[in-house]
Amino acid sequence: MCWISKSAVCLVKEDVAQGSSVSFLSTEMQKRRLIVLLLCVLSSSCVYCQLDNNYVEDEIDAKQVDAPTRGFFGKHWRHQIVDAQSKLSETNNETMAVSAIAEETSTDVEKSASREGKFFSLFTVVKFANDDCTTVSNDNGTCYSASECSARGGVASGSCAGGFGVCCTFSYTCGQTTYQNSSYFSNLNYPSNYDATGSCQLTVNKASSNVCQLRLDFIVMMLVQPETNDSNCNRDQFIVTGGSRVPSICGTNNGQHMYVETGLLGNSPITLTVVTSGTGFARQWRIKVTQLNCDSIGRAPNSCVQYYTGVSGTIQSFNYDGISGRQLSNQDYTICIRTESNFCSIAYSVCSGGVYSITGPTGGSATAVGTPIGALVGSTTCNTDWLTIPCASDNGRAIQRGNSVCQDRLCGDAFASVVQTTSGTVISSVRPFRVTVHFDGFEANVPTSVTNVQGQFNNRGFCLSYIQQPCTS
Ligand SMILES: *[C@@H]1O[C@H](CO)[C@@H](O)[C@H](O)[C@H]1NC(C)=O
Ligand SMILES: *[C@@H]1O[C@H](CO)[C@@H](O)[C@H](O)[C@H]1NC(C)=O
Ligand SMILES: *[C@@H]1O[C@H](CO)[C@@H](O)[C@H](O)[C@H]1NC(C)=O
Ligand SMILES: *[C@@H]1O[C@H](CO)[C@@H](O)[C@H](O)[C@H]1NC(C)=O
Repeated sequence: MCWISKSAVCLVKEDVAQGSSVSFLSTEMQKRRLIVLLLCVLSSSCVYCQLDNNYVEDEIDAKQVDAPTRGFFGKHWRHQIVDAQSKLSETNNETMAVSAIAEETSTDVEKSASREGKFFSLFTVVKFANDDCTTVSNDNGTCYSASECSARGGVASGSCAGGFGVCCTFSYTCGQTTYQNSSYFSNLNYPSNYDATGSCQLTVNKASSNVCQLRLDFIVMMLVQPETNDSNCNRDQFIVTGGSRVPSICGTNNGQHMYVETGLLGNSPITLTVVTSGTGFARQWRIKVTQLNCDSIGRAPNSCVQYYTGVSGTIQSFNYDGISGRQLSNQDYTICIRTESNFCSIAYSVCSGGVYSITGPTGGSATAVGTPIGALVGSTTCNTDWLTIPCASDNGRAIQRGNSVCQDRLCGDAFASVVQTTSGTVISSVRPFRVTVHFDGFEANVPTSVTNVQGQFNNRGFCLSYIQQPCTS
């Protein structure tokens, strides 16, 4: 038996490029229930009809499973009944706009659904983008139609798109594979800790063929600290393979991020691996993996492992924690800062309350642990670990204080562009704004050919605040 009531018929399209859509029987059609009844009787998919308003959602899901996929509306459509009446009244204001979108959408649909096309004018189609949303538990999710969320293996929590979509999150742990934008990769049993030896991998496949980049956000990233001799990550390591080279890291990196190039051509996956060795440390990680299209405005320029936007901000070395975190060895990467419009140069200084220490020169006499070596500059002096800031100077010009020329390499345990004992402001007018990090594989344990490296011990890396400087003329 099949008849229609106030709860309207709804069809949910499985997959719509660049968004989701939900279609409802239009208000006009609801008035003409006889026709609907007729359609219903003719169609083998009587699941279009809803008996009353007070259905139990589980029952509907059960019906959905049995729903024939051949129906009036072609195999591209999956049938689902929702309480359209209440949804439409919530967004009554937008009905006009919604109808206008429907016109546009139905032409797309007609192409694939050919002869079924004519039925689509009977429906109001709501199309919405798969935007970010916030779940009831305050997680970041993606807005999908309810059926798409479950088909993609997500968990729905809260609504979005004016009640037409659900806020859907995608969480993965060891040994899993994702094809989904905005996936979260966590340790086993997160938010519990993980304290064991293991190798935990997530395989990330492109969500679509024009993805060029991944952005990894370390929401929580707590692994074992590097060893204390050379600051190498010899116990735990986070490793990215299959994309552009990014540094392997360990220690505490909450709030840090990385961009990984996937390349446009080819569909080989990127693998994220967390290697853990030994017990006695409460490890925890949760990494958000965002996929970025080649033409996305959020995409970082090529070869930027970190990318910051905004007139001011903070950059830090990996495992910087301001207390005891060590500068990690074997780091070679570039931090990029987007040049905002009408800004011509950039000024860096050590974060308020922060520390800065990067190995000094080889040669000369070795300094005892904790002996200040001050700010050091230039490629002859800074030859093991250094930061490159192009034409760094104290005044933004090539010739700086004391008639010295600007410097590209900075090291030591004070941050300045000239040799001095205290930290100062370092300005660079070279655009785009870049800071390149080079930390070699040695701290205490220097190669036999290299002796007496100043300030090699207990280096802490850097935390720098930056402020872009307006163009003056
Ligand atoms: C309807 O739209 C108008 C203007 O767009 C807005 O001011 C008003 O708050 C809306 N009403 C409801 C109930 O959403
Ligand atoms: C959600 O995203 C915001 C910024 O996009 C970020 O600061 C926050 O940590 C995220 N929260 C979770 C739980 O992913
Ligand atoms: C992934 O989601 C982000 C928003 O979180 C969006 O900016 C980006 O375009 C999406 N990527 C793809 C491939 O759709
Ligand atoms: C630490 O470095 C020193 C100096 O090179 C070396 O003699 C020692 O064996 C290293 N210790 C460890 C545990 O690697």
